[in-house]
Amino acid sequence: MDRFVSHYTLRLDTKGRVSIPAPFRAVLARDGFEGLYCYPTLDRPALDAGGNALLSDLGARTLPRGTRGGHREGSRAHEAAGLPGSGGRPARSTGMMASRDSGRAVAGGLARHIPVLGRSTVEFLAVRAGGVYVDATFGAGGHTRDILAAANCNVIGIDRDQSAIARGADLVREAGGRLVLVEDKFSNLEAVARSCGYDAIDGVVFDLGVSSMQLDEAARGFSFRHDGPLDMRMGRDGPTAADVVAAASERELAAIFATLGEERRARSIARAIVAARGQVPIHTTRALADIITGIVHARPGAIHPATRTFQALRIFVNGELAELAAGLAAAERALKPGGRLVVVAFHSLEDRIAKSFLIERSRPSAPSRHRPAPAQTAATFRILTNRPVVPDEAEIGANPRARSAKLRAAERTDAAIANRHATRLLPPLPSVGEVIARQGSGRPR
Ligand SMILES: C[S@@+](CC[C@H](N)C(=O)[O-])C[C@H]1O[C@@H](n2cnc3c(N)ncnc32)[C@H](O)[C@@H]1O
Repeated sequence: MDRFVSHYTLRLDTKGRVSIPAPFRAVLARDGFEGLYCYPTLDRPALDAGGNALLSDLGARTLPRGTRGGHREGSRAHEAAGLPGSGGRPARSTGMMASRDSGRAVAGGLARHIPVLGRSTVEFLAVRAGGVYVDATFGAGGHTRDILAAANCNVIGIDRDQSAIARGADLVREAGGRLVLVEDKFSNLEAVARSCGYDAIDGVVFDLGVSSMQLDEAARGFSFRHDGPLDMRMGRDGPTAADVVAAASERELAAIFATLGEERRARSIARAIVAARGQVPIHTTRALADIITGIVHARPGAIHPATRTFQALRIFVNGELAELAAGLAAAERALKPGGRLVVVAFHSLEDRIAKSFLIERSRPSAPSRHRPAPAQTAATFRILTNRPVVPDEAEIGANPRARSAKLRAAERTDAAIANRHATRLLPPLPSVGEVIARQGSGRPR
């Protein structure tokens, strides 16, 4: 075991000891460990490929060696954690991490990446020998690895992030000709599959959002935890978050933060940004985070005040919802009859788009009283998950990023596709291109 992470909410007892939950004691007793860290807060999805670099950000403390005891026997283990507030009063800690090799950073891919809902993904894809599968969000290759291990099949891994593709080179070699990686957006997956020699595919998985590797790299500008350029682009082109923050009107910024971040203080934050950028351009993650923390105050146990605004900007800059709608439509075109679609979403807007898409495509469209009757269309998908599949406690404990995941799966029917667009599923926001193009057009700011 290289690393073992839990997000259980822990309490210190009156002697300042932490009790370790039973499922974790079993693993720790079996595998042993060299270090144990407790940290007071855990913001999704910081830890899934975390490591020592992350611990300082989380305010983690390494437990003194001498205070450890009892784990290997599997007895109820207690640790003196030395966290703030542990002087006899119960204090809360929301996470802990045990590591066999506490000196080795795990971020950057040394550890095998644990894919979220990996087993369910492989099961719903019904991976079989000879099949061709598209991992539309290759990331650290967790799902790809599981698919390749499940049967003697082929995988096309797509990621718009060049560094994810570059990091996958070892896995390509390991796969011995069964894996091809392509730097592209998943909205182009049909063309990508064709360019790899496949007109139709047996399955596709979308594991949406940003990867921990992207969050951890300060220069990518995704995280308010690291000071870096306010970039946030997953790919290499297009406007940055700094461009959006400089160009969008106050009303547009407020709509972005409210819609994509569900930020209650969206209007106040937008107003503060517009006031601040009038003084000096906002070029860094720290500068933006400071403006936000001037408006939204940190509360103990709550997520960081900048979490929602940063998430909203990231989704906007990368056009993530439009990409999802286009990616689902591309999957519909590329899948063979009987082919499987799996979507793992972490955000309610993404999940709503996947759900609405599947509901719409799994019902034959009836002629409408209000529209000139189109040719009636047959269902192109059969839904396999009436309710979304969510991770169990054990998975959440081992991989905190899984906490908000929802998996939906469907099977392609043999019906032909009517010319149906998925863009109706999107919230009414301008695109990043429209915001940049309107800059300086004299509209009210
Ligand atoms: C959550 S991570 C995927 C993790 C991966 N399933 C694993 O197990 O290692 C999401 C990845 O999808 C990529 N991504 C997000 N949107 C994309 C899009 N529209 N086209 C291609 N890649 C995208 C991101 O760059 C990121 O690397």
